[in-house]
Amino acid sequence: MQKKVHVLFVCLGNICRSPMAEAVFRHMVMEEGLDGAISVDSAATSSWHIGEPPHKGTVAKLKEYGISTEGMAGRQVSRTDFDQFDYIIGMDTSNIRNVRDLLGQPDHPKIFRLLDLTERSMDVPDPYFTGDFQETYDLVIEGCRILLDKIRMEHSI
Ligand code: 4NP
Repeated sequence: MQKKVHVLFVCLGNICRSPMAEAVFRHMVMEEGLDGAISVDSAATSSWHIGEPPHKGTVAKLKEYGISTEGMAGRQVSRTDFDQFDYIIGMDTSNIRNVRDLLGQPDHPKIFRLLDLTERSMDVPDPYFTGDFQETYDLVIEGCRILLDKIRMEHSI
């Protein structure tokens, strides 16, 4: 059997954007019957919210769309993540910079910004500061759809 593809989403706190992307992407993977082939996780560049559940705004927005956040808890990126994950996806430019530092990998193609997959080439706005969880959700959906197509193509799954 083919080795699982491991996907890691990263943001600053691991309570708003990256858990949203994790839950959305896992939901898409399950809908396409690929949960045996793709695993999904998320982590923070900071240590501020380790062990905490996702932000209530993220939980509420996902609930509106029938997406569960059950059992999710914040963690920080660690060096071993570089070997364990095939795709390490930051939500914004500073996440990319910080994750490269934390992983000791100045430039590697498996580390990239989510919306660079789209024609927008922009940061996913942080709803911790904007308060707009809908805007973030819409952009996360857009990026995750393209990400899933990319992974399916690159791994023939
Ligand atoms: P996130 O948002 O990186 O999308 O999880 C934030 C969460 C918490 C903080 C900043 C951003 N904070 O300052 O605690």
